[in-house]
Amino acid sequence: MCGIVGFIGQEQAAPILLEGLSRLEYRGYNSAGVAVFDAEAGTLAVLTREGIRCYDHLMQPIEKEIVSIDWEIDAAEKGGYEHFMFKEIMEQPQALRRCLSPRIREGEVVFENFSLSQAYIRNMSRIYIVACGSSYHVGMVGKYHLERLTRVPVEVALASEFRYMDPIVDEHTLVIVISQSGETLDTMAALREARRLGAHILSIVNVVGSSIARESDQVLYTWAGPEIAVATTKAYTTQLALLSLLALWLGRQLGTVPDGEYRAAVTAFQELPGKMEQVLSQRDDIQYFASKYFNHNPIFFIGRNLDYALGLEGSLKLKEISYIHSEAYASGELKHGTISLIEEGTLVVALGTYGRLFSKAMSNVVEVKARGAAVLALTAESRREEMARTADAVMTIPDIHELLLPCLGVVPLQLFAYYVALMRGCDIDKPRNLAKSVTVE
Ligand code: G6P
Repeated sequence: MCGIVGFIGQEQAAPILLEGLSRLEYRGYNSAGVAVFDAEAGTLAVLTREGIRCYDHLMQPIEKEIVSIDWEIDAAEKGGYEHFMFKEIMEQPQALRRCLSPRIREGEVVFENFSLSQAYIRNMSRIYIVACGSSYHVGMVGKYHLERLTRVPVEVALASEFRYMDPIVDEHTLVIVISQSGETLDTMAALREARRLGAHILSIVNVVGSSIARESDQVLYTWAGPEIAVATTKAYTTQLALLSLLALWLGRQLGTVPDGEYRAAVTAFQELPGKMEQVLSQRDDIQYFASKYFNHNPIFFIGRNLDYALGLEGSLKLKEISYIHSEAYASGELKHGTISLIEEGTLVVALGTYGRLFSKAMSNVVEVKARGAAVLALTAESRREEMARTADAVMTIPDIHELLLPCLGVVPLQLFAYYVALMRGCDIDKPRNLAKSVTVE
């Protein structure tokens, strides 16, 4: 089968784009075309200038539905940037506009062709979010938002655990599956288990027509465009924005979001891409902090509530691409163990973006400073001064509605991880031992 090759005009771009499509295994190309093998289905697609032909495992021609994906080929090229990861970080405002603008019309959140009826939403007893890796971290943020805005209990489960935990799921459970690739095997298995138990499956997916999208009752696409770097950035922020928008919409349907908050939140979603551009324009400051701290190891991230969920992602970004040992802790848990690891010069990234808990964040900064830690803090612009009185260095984001704090707050952490990895000479787009899409258990 490998001998068969077929087309794609831009030969250089094609393999990269197809690799981004995960479960499809790229099998080779020449000037005539490209061949792609679908390992799960055992089918082969041959793309030539004349068209696409598909074969089963016996090389018998078969018919396949063609799904058009509206991605520009440029998106799969570096376009002058040194790394895909940096390019994708910089593309986030644009990706968010693509994801959000069609879903906010005349000040209202609109999800077109939504299959969740009013009756279903009113009888929903529980929401489960299942995902892996960064998508799971999106779920962690989503739990806080969904519970606050809908008052429906929300569980977040690692997809790899879900199917072994005998989950309490029935037809009144909404299962939200989050996956950039739409092909992660554990997430797929969790989806199938949830379906077997009778749940309604709503997925948040980037790759159009992927397996998870196809097997869900309802799909919300993030429209982030192809993401090539192994460490996710723009897929993460669009997943987060979309899940937060869904939480707001569900709260509106249930009547659990006051009108004033709904209006303020909708405005915040509209302002998000512009505010993210402001964060990106401060990247030189982050590069400077990275140059100061890139030799620290380990590095701890601390935060509460939304800032804890944010810390999980910030820490994952850093360890994935820089190989620094990094862990994220809920600040309140520090004194139950982790604080014993803080010694003179240990770097603690203290997250204090969440206004309601800012005073708690400050007291944790004081606590670790007293044990000799160096503190790099992240907070909202309006609190910079107060934070700077105690922390050694402060990164900021513009003030924004709390629904969108993690979405904005993750950007300085992505940049910090990127610059640290750059200074340590790491292979940023393809970190050792990691894959973009994990299709094994
Ligand atoms: C891999 C990637 C991560 C991603 C995770 C889940 O580990 O490196 O960036 O978060 O898989 O992938 P998914 O495509 O399901 O979101």
